[in-house]
Amino acid sequence: MRILITGGAGFIGSALLRFLFSETDHELLNFDKLTYASSLSSLPEKIKCSERYELCRGDICDPIQTKKVINRFQPEAIIHLAAESHVDRSIDGPQEFISTNVNGTAILLETVTSYWETLSKNEQSDFRFLHVSTDEVFGSLGAEGKFSEKTPYAPNSPYSASKASSDHLVRAWNHTYGLPTIISNCSNNYGPYQFPEKLIPLMITNALNGKKLPIYGDGQQIRDWLHVDDHVTALYHLLRYGKVGESYAVGGNNERANLDVVASICQILDSILPSLNGDSYYSLIEFVEDRPGHDQRYAIDASKIYNELGWKPRENFDSGLAKTITWYVENRDWCEAIKLNNYDEQRVSSR
Ligand code: NAD
Ligand code: TYD
Repeated sequence: MRILITGGAGFIGSALLRFLFSETDHELLNFDKLTYASSLSSLPEKIKCSERYELCRGDICDPIQTKKVINRFQPEAIIHLAAESHVDRSIDGPQEFISTNVNGTAILLETVTSYWETLSKNEQSDFRFLHVSTDEVFGSLGAEGKFSEKTPYAPNSPYSASKASSDHLVRAWNHTYGLPTIISNCSNNYGPYQFPEKLIPLMITNALNGKKLPIYGDGQQIRDWLHVDDHVTALYHLLRYGKVGESYAVGGNNERANLDVVASICQILDSILPSLNGDSYYSLIEFVEDRPGHDQRYAIDASKIYNELGWKPRENFDSGLAKTITWYVENRDWCEAIKLNNYDEQRVSSR
């Protein structure tokens, strides 16, 4: 199968490409703008040199580029991950999020639909547009309950509002034009090659550099963590077995308060790489001003994808976190290189 992946140089897209390259024989085209968040060194040379893989640098907001690459590659499936993805950045500068996540998705959908309409009836029904979205579109939970496919949309940040808009566009393109779409709404991911502005890699890299570990507010906000390698198996499962026109909540039942996550990171680092001055990394924790509009709790009820499609995550959070920390300790060069690519290490959200 020919699969076009948007955002394949990002954290999840690169994990998906590594998985699809090693576990399948699909032909893969990575369509990516190569923003600050991208890293081509997340892809091993054996992929980059392979005839089964092609990188096309391009912007989903550019209809001419997008049409050209789709018409040339003739994809049988598209997995759409390209996005601006960091909530703090969306608070300081929402327009880029609206541009890529909303307008970019609309342009991609229009272009894909024009191409899809030229296919034979069989090719049309086999075609898939898998839209990779987030649980943040559902807003914030109290102490009880979980998000599922039935939860009403109530996005709170510019990021989640832009992703919610893109989900609605995808749904409308299925309903109106018949484009065979599937939407996934996944919880927070962690794992190797995540840009060190997100909680887990930021805390690991700051600790390794003896810098403060900034906890927003009281650190009692809860996220439901899923290892990125589990997310990509879920995406491939959805591509093959997901029902057209439906959405799927994806998660691994790993709810943790932010402060507990950071305390675990400190404890693991204390055991594998004690600091030179003998202090626990825990002493670097600093409580800072809360993020505006900070969502309190996310949690996923993934029983639809578990029960209807038979997908299950493999990694549990404790072992996944330990492996991720070891990866960052062993790959400090990767972090330094990607940070040089446009990142000033300041907390982005300040208003
Ligand atoms: P990321 O920021 O690491 O990567 C995004 C990629 O998209 C980058 O390679 C970037 O260059 C590319 N990109 C950005 N704008 C583009 C444009 N206009 N045209 C083409 N390419 C563009 O993001 P990620 O964490 O890998 O997330 C990927 C997708 O998964 C996003 O859609 C995000 O909303 C969704 N998601 C992320 C998480 C998470 O925890 N990271 C959880 C659920 C869903
Ligand atoms: P983040 O990784 O930005 O993901 P999201 O906002 O999409 O959930 O943040 C995860 C949680 O960690 C969130 O509740 C905000 C919090 N956080 C901090 O406390 N300090 C930080 O420096 C960062 C980046 C996040």
